[in-house]
This record gives sequence, C-alpha cells and structure tokens, in this order.
Amino acid sequence: MKKVLVVNPKGGCGKTTLTTNLASYYALWDVPVALIDLDSQKSSLEWLAQRSDRLNPIIGIDGSHGRMSVPDGIQRVVIDAPARTTTAQLRRMFEQADEVLIPVLPSPIDIRAAGHFIGELLLDKMLRKSRIGLVANRVRENTLIYNNLETFLNKLKIPLVTHLRDTQNYIKAAEGGYGVFEMAPYLVDKDMDTWRPLIRWIEKDHKL
Ligand SMILES: Nc1ncnc2c1ncn2[C@@H]1O[C@H](COP(=O)(O)OP(=O)(O)OP(=O)(O)O)[C@@H](O)[C@H]1O
Ligand SMILES: [Mg+2]
Repeated sequence: MKKVLVVNPKGGCGKTTLTTNLASYYALWDVPVALIDLDSQKSSLEWLAQRSDRLNPIIGIDGSHGRMSVPDGIQRVVIDAPARTTTAQLRRMFEQADEVLIPVLPSPIDIRAAGHFIGELLLDKMLRKSRIGLVANRVRENTLIYNNLETFLNKLKIPLVTHLRDTQNYIKAAEGGYGVFEMAPYLVDKDMDTWRPLIRWIEKDHKL
C-alpha cells in the first residue's frame, strides 16, 4: 500500500483539488483507493458525497480526529491535509506518508509562505525522510508571476514535478464528485498532459 500526503499550511493552494483528482485517477483504473480527509472542513469528503454510484468507488475516511487506518485490500491512500498545521501535526502526517505533494500557487504571498514552509521541512530531519515533490497549481503560463514561481521552485532542493492549469475543469469536477480524468477527453486533453509527470513521479516503475 502506498500513501500520498498532500500538504501545505497555506490555505486555498489546491490540496483538496490535488487529493480528489488523484483519488479519482486510481478509482478510474480500478485501483482500490481510500481518501483520508484530515481537515475538519471535510471538503474532500463533501466532494465524495457528490460522487455518482456509476463511477468507481473511493473509500472516504474522516481523519480529522487523527484516524489514519484504512480497510484491508486498499492499495492507494491519498491524504488531504488541513491548512494551518503545527510542526507536531506535520511530523505525524509525514510519518504516515510514502510520498508528499506540496501544491503552490503563483502569487507573491503564496510564494513567500511556501518558502517558509519548505525551509521548515528542510531543517527538520523527521520531515525530510519522506519523498517530497512540488506542484505549481492554477498556472497561467507565460505570465510574469508564473515565471517568478518557477524560478523560485527550481531553486529549491525539492523537485518541481508538474504544473496544473488554472481551468474551470477543476471547479466543475469539484462540484460533481469526479476528477478531470473522468471528464470527456476532449475537454481535458491539456490537463492529462500535466498529470502524466505527476503520476509517473508517484508511481515510479508501477504500470498504472
Ligand atoms: N488548477 C485549478 N484551476 C481552477 N481552480 C482551482 C484549481 N485548483 C484549485 N482551484 C480552486 O481553488 C479553490 C481552492 O482549492 P482547494 O480547495 O483545492 O485548496 P485547499 O488547499 O484544499 O484549501 P484549504 O486550505 O482551505 O483546504 C477551490 O475553489 C478550487 O476549486
Ligand atoms: Mg482543502
């Protein structure tokens, strides 16, 4: 079983978007998948509640009281972290995770906040143990602020795995309880291109 944690203490950077779409990717490929929502806002579980029975299932687990255990047979677990986490909470989450994804938005405030967070990770031995990757989110390419974000992220000792476009596709998917993978291919062609490197990074040699 592999556990992927999506975390960044900065609010609204795309943790739930990344978590729900990744869970839906596994579901689409018939991989038994659970989604643990550690956030008391329960946005991931609310997304799951909208999910149609006609789509492949995702097991939802409310982890907001610290529960992290999953049923037997689950092969992939995607964990949605809350905003505003303490170092102690971060350590507990990182201990559980094989891979950690950090979404970052191209905005000056988010870039500065990410700098502080990543600085904390690199200084803390416990936190450095997991495999960590960055995801630039809500990107409009060829904008000055995205170029600034890319320059900043590329300077860090953590790989920039991919960038996800700023598109209504994620908003529609968030409303409907599905992921971009489960939308009509002609709508999400460009988004599939941005997810491929992310899936490869998480799955390494596995063919999924
Ligand atoms: N790539 C994207 N394109 C368009 N909209 C996006 C994208 N990523 C996220 N959003 C939207 O931005 C908002 C915040 O995203 P999301 O809820 O995933 O962030 P979060 O980090 O989970 O927030 P919180 O810290 O409150 O839990 C949501 O309305 C979401 O639909
Ligand atoms: Mg969230």
